Amino acid sequence: MKKIKVKIPAFPASDYTIEIGSDFLHTILPRIKKLFPEKQIFIITDSNIAKTKNLKLLLDKEKLPKYVITPAGEKSKNINTVVKIIELMEKQAFGRDTIVIALGGGTVGDMAGFVAAIYKRGVDVVQIPTTTVAQADSAIGGKTGVDSLVSKNAFGSFKNPSAVFIDVNTLKTLDEKQFNAGLVESIKHALIADEKYFDYLKKNLEAILARKNKPLEYIAQKNCQIKASVVEQDPFEKNKRRILNYGHTIGHAVESASNYKFLHGQSVAIGILAANLIEQKLGLGARERLEILKDIFSKLKINLKIPKSVTKKQLLDIISRDKKAVKKWPRFVLLEKTGKVLYRDGQYAQKVERKIVEDAIEILLK
Ligand code: GLY
Repeated sequence: MKKIKVKIPAFPASDYTIEIGSDFLHTILPRIKKLFPEKQIFIITDSNIAKTKNLKLLLDKEKLPKYVITPAGEKSKNINTVVKIIELMEKQAFGRDTIVIALGGGTVGDMAGFVAAIYKRGVDVVQIPTTTVAQADSAIGGKTGVDSLVSKNAFGSFKNPSAVFIDVNTLKTLDEKQFNAGLVESIKHALIADEKYFDYLKKNLEAILARKNKPLEYIAQKNCQIKASVVEQDPFEKNKRRILNYGHTIGHAVESASNYKFLHGQSVAIGILAANLIEQKLGLGARERLEILKDIFSKLKINLKIPKSVTKKQLLDIISRDKKAVKKWPRFVLLEKTGKVLYRDGQYAQKVERKIVEDAIEILLK
């Protein structure tokens, strides 16, 4: 037998810039054209955004090829939509010189990023997030993908954007439920990385909820700094990046089990409470934080009641299929204290006995 070794050189390092501000959406398209002069632009957005002034502001009377995801939301985040987008791009003769612009929330960004990752083996993508979830989290860091009928983001790829533009003014058209639920990702960032930021969020919640530009720009900046610093250390989620999944293991399960009736941020809020209950069981002294979190979530008017149709068995079944599960049991990111993730035995995500997780789920289902 002959053996041939194929040596793959390391992927070249790359970087991208995140620009944060307000009222500059109308300037982005000319800037993209200047930054990427040889590229053909294809826009991916959704039916919600198409109804707002955001798409008009971005295009500024230009007619560019686009795909409008309909209906907007997680229900469309599947491989069938990806096929439709890709076939439309093919019919319109887009080549490797394409740059995809994702204008929208997490669903649009995840799908557009995934399309860019696989179209003709990869084209560029620029993210222009327009929701609190996307501006805080999903537009940065390169996780892209779509759901299968069985689980969230089952098809996926890492695809870093070539640039990100965050105009907090785009949040003004977001409905209250989505706006508030998306703030849970900001709370998550503060919990895992920065106690002072957590205090800022507590103290300035009213101004944030009033959608004042300055606090919105500040939280966008803090979120991006925290996320970027984690992603730079562990882009492919071998270990440290897992801290960004705080509250997401049980959160994703609730989101899936609710058949996506629960918003992502709303589900993560429940997941954060579950993590807190586990922390308490493990003697990590999280009781006081539980009350603070409940108070914040109540100010955000987040419904934390899991639908009656969802069972413990169903949630356990979903978490056993978590992407990061080891022997069909997930690891949990837990807090040592506010602003600091528990790091034990070289790991940022911990083994937790099944009974402890079951008890936490039971409390949440009550
Ligand atoms: N949303 C978690 C991550 O980007 O890793």
